[in-house]
Amino acid sequence: MAVGIFDSGLGGLTVLDAVAKRLPEVDFIYYGDSANAPYGVRDADDVFDLTKAAVTKLWDAGCDLVILACNTASAAALRRMQEAGLPEGKRVLGVFVPLIEALSERDWGDNSPPREVAAKHVALFATPASVASRAFQRELAFRAIGVDVEAQACGGVVDAIEDGDLILAEALVRSHVAALLRKMPNPGAAILGCTHYPLMETTFQEALGAGVKVFSQADLVAESLADYLARHPKLVGPKVESRFLTSGDVRQVSDHATQFLRRRIEFEAA
Ligand code: DGL
Repeated sequence: MAVGIFDSGLGGLTVLDAVAKRLPEVDFIYYGDSANAPYGVRDADDVFDLTKAAVTKLWDAGCDLVILACNTASAAALRRMQEAGLPEGKRVLGVFVPLIEALSERDWGDNSPPREVAAKHVALFATPASVASRAFQRELAFRAIGVDVEAQACGGVVDAIEDGDLILAEALVRSHVAALLRKMPNPGAAILGCTHYPLMETTFQEALGAGVKVFSQADLVAESLADYLARHPKLVGPKVESRFLTSGDVRQVSDHATQFLRRRIEFEAA
């Protein structure tokens, strides 16, 4: 048995890298639905159907626990899947609650009433679907008071990364940051609310300026997964081989993953 990590494409590899480093004894099966990426321009029903099919694939591959390492899928599908009821013994978790907990200075699962926090002006960068869902603002409102969030839907960035076009991805990040700064000239913090964006973190930080604290998810998710598995050790199970699965073109996806992660990654067709 292994823990499943799912993303629409390559972005979840940023989460996989961090969780594999934090939990070296755990095996992971990664599934990227690159044939259907980007999810961020699809409507909520479409994202839900694709996410459910992908998670079922990972459950069938032997993972009892699947992490949605995709904010767009977490926003559109997580609550709906959990409310519809999961198969016996299967679990699914999302990625943005650990991020919101870090921003709102909370420990894992602290459900106390919302309170004032240090971050007052927060820039949110996410896919058009995640921004439209307002899921970040909703989760933040449960935990923090008086935080002004300005959201920028970063159209095109996921496509450029999936196509391996670093130059276009950089240009798009700079123009989305400039658009955000026109609406909120002095953010104190920025959230990279898409798991693809840490692949461009240096560009985000440069464009925002050194004074802006950039929150990205990978390490925060790794900590909260370690905490969760310590409380649910049965979900790890016996050793299996870690694998990388894709619905896309195996050669192209492997090459682009290798380019961004700077280590050889071989995907298998799924
Ligand atoms: N990595 C996904 C996320 O975190 C990207 C979604 C997409 O495919 O547009 O939102």
